[in-house]
Amino acid sequence: MGPREIITIDGPAGAGKSTVGRLLAQSLGYLYLDSGAFYRAVAWQARRLGVSLDDPEPLQAFLKGFAPEVTADDRGFHLVIDGAEVTEEIRSAAAGRDASRVAVQPLVREWVKEHLRHLAKNGGVVTDGRDQGTAVFPGAAHKFYLDASLATRAERRRQDWRQESEPPELTGIMAEIAARDLRDSSRSEAPLRVPEDAVVIDTTDLSIDEVLKQCLARIRGIDSGRLELKPS
Ligand code: DC
Repeated sequence: MGPREIITIDGPAGAGKSTVGRLLAQSLGYLYLDSGAFYRAVAWQARRLGVSLDDPEPLQAFLKGFAPEVTADDRGFHLVIDGAEVTEEIRSAAAGRDASRVAVQPLVREWVKEHLRHLAKNGGVVTDGRDQGTAVFPGAAHKFYLDASLATRAERRRQDWRQESEPPELTGIMAEIAARDLRDSSRSEAPLRVPEDAVVIDTTDLSIDEVLKQCLARIRGIDSGRLELKPS
């Protein structure tokens, strides 16, 4: 493995990208970037300020003055808007829906891409999302594409439900994720795709440690059976 490389992890909602991305970055001593958090932050702040999520002109004017602060530590990736940490707030299902809406706008994608490239300019980054290996970092040293069955991805979303005491029915979450998959993969601008040179991992029946091991083994060019993981 070369020094301070760029590693991308793409895939649909609930495939395990952010958990694996965070742990992979920790193992390598790299910065973890959650590209979805940028789309969520744009949508969250636009809604708060009453900016239309679907109209390019007001969105462009809003983005000119929008500069969230980004930090990363052992617990992961943090976004601060107007001095307040919004890392948790932007995780809601509503913010995810809004993010998928603004993500169809080319100017929003351009804004996010520029921010990500700036943060990754010195390498040493694990970045996850829907277009990291295809559009944002096509020259990345290692590309992974994580997937899992719709039912498994919905169950994972239900497991980390924190917004209401009672999580919604699994079928409702499945319908929501299927709608988001469709929007993310059918948009004209940088749709969700498997990058040509990506290693595809189906995480349906794998633990996080198993996925992490497979990724680390590919990065280090060794057999995953020979890899011992340090406890995270
Ligand atoms: O990964 P996430 O759930 O936080 O992403 C929220 C939405 O943001 C997702 O439905 C589509 C959009 N997104 C995108 O279009 N491209 C990315 N690289 C990351 C997220």
